Amino acid sequence: MKLNIALLPGDGIGPEVIDQAVKVSNAIATKFNHEINWVKALVGAAAIDVYGEPYPNVTHEICLRANAILFGAIGDPKYDNDPLAKVRPEQGLLKMRKDLGLFANVRPTFTFPSLLDKSPLKKEIIEGTDLVFLRELTGGIYFGKRGRLDNGNTAYDTCTYSKEEIKRIAIKGFDLAMKRSKKLCCVDKANVLESSRLWRETVQAMEKDYPEVSVSYEFVDAVAMRLVQWPKSYDVLITENLFGDILTDEASVISGSMGLMPSASVGLKTSLYEPIHGSYPEAAGKDIANPLATILSAAMMFEDAFKLKDEAKVIRDAVNLSLEKLIVTEDLSNGQNSFSTSEVGTWLSDLILK
Ligand code: IPM
Ligand code: MN
Repeated sequence: MKLNIALLPGDGIGPEVIDQAVKVSNAIATKFNHEINWVKALVGAAAIDVYGEPYPNVTHEICLRANAILFGAIGDPKYDNDPLAKVRPEQGLLKMRKDLGLFANVRPTFTFPSLLDKSPLKKEIIEGTDLVFLRELTGGIYFGKRGRLDNGNTAYDTCTYSKEEIKRIAIKGFDLAMKRSKKLCCVDKANVLESSRLWRETVQAMEKDYPEVSVSYEFVDAVAMRLVQWPKSYDVLITENLFGDILTDEASVISGSMGLMPSASVGLKTSLYEPIHGSYPEAAGKDIANPLATILSAAMMFEDAFKLKDEAKVIRDAVNLSLEKLIVTEDLSNGQNSFSTSEVGTWLSDLILK
């Protein structure tokens, strides 16, 4: 099969972890006789440096032409401490999501048997956790009307959702629940927010189309608590943009390291695969960041974008073996002998080619 993949390394550790995912994907292509055509493009601070904007049109065109997008991370501290900065790397990510219509962000949380003692939570609490957040990604407070009043001394951001926006993400949630354990949790703050009441009303009206799915409606604050108390309460969860941002960071560390969880953003035109973690600027260029979340994102890409299940399984099996054999970066090495980012990538690709 011929696979056209747009490659967006982005900022910070993005390029290093992306390199490893490319190594592993190329090994898969060799093993299974596929041809991958990688087309590289700039995004984030890397794009601001060259084009003056974080998601330039050339990058958008490359993404539109590709069958799938593999993305690293975005963000540079030089913009974080400058409240007056006119352009920010993160704006590139938001524009990319909006312009590519990536309205559903799929963020799984699962555990690895060999890493149960790495979690900040007790083993018996996390063992067997396997849940998926579907975070709405192109609406809500991230994209609502915002501004300043009162000579700049008052600021506001607004959260707006239409029924259509809620419906399309809810459909993804119900469909995924049907493929899994037929349990769906709608996370909102309907006791306070009008937009949450519309979420609840819309999802409730859809229940009749999915009679086999049992739906629970829970407030976001309670879900935040329950996630660390008993994460096995959940299977598929749908929620709006900001709640999803916060809860998926919380959930991502259940597995033991933030460097482990992959994600997909899907929607209208194409799909994008990226690690849940950020650009980790302190580690940039040091060859120490954990590449597994990006490599597992490539596995998601093979499975979901190209329907290549066996290829995805070979990647996941290789990752599991590397964890068992402790071929891991320093975040997982228990202070023992750790491997560099590129050594982990090479070990995995060698294993796949064996
Ligand atoms: C994420 C990130 C982004 C978000 C930032 C970098 C804009 O935190 O992908 O979760 O808030 O969506
Ligand atoms: Mn986030």
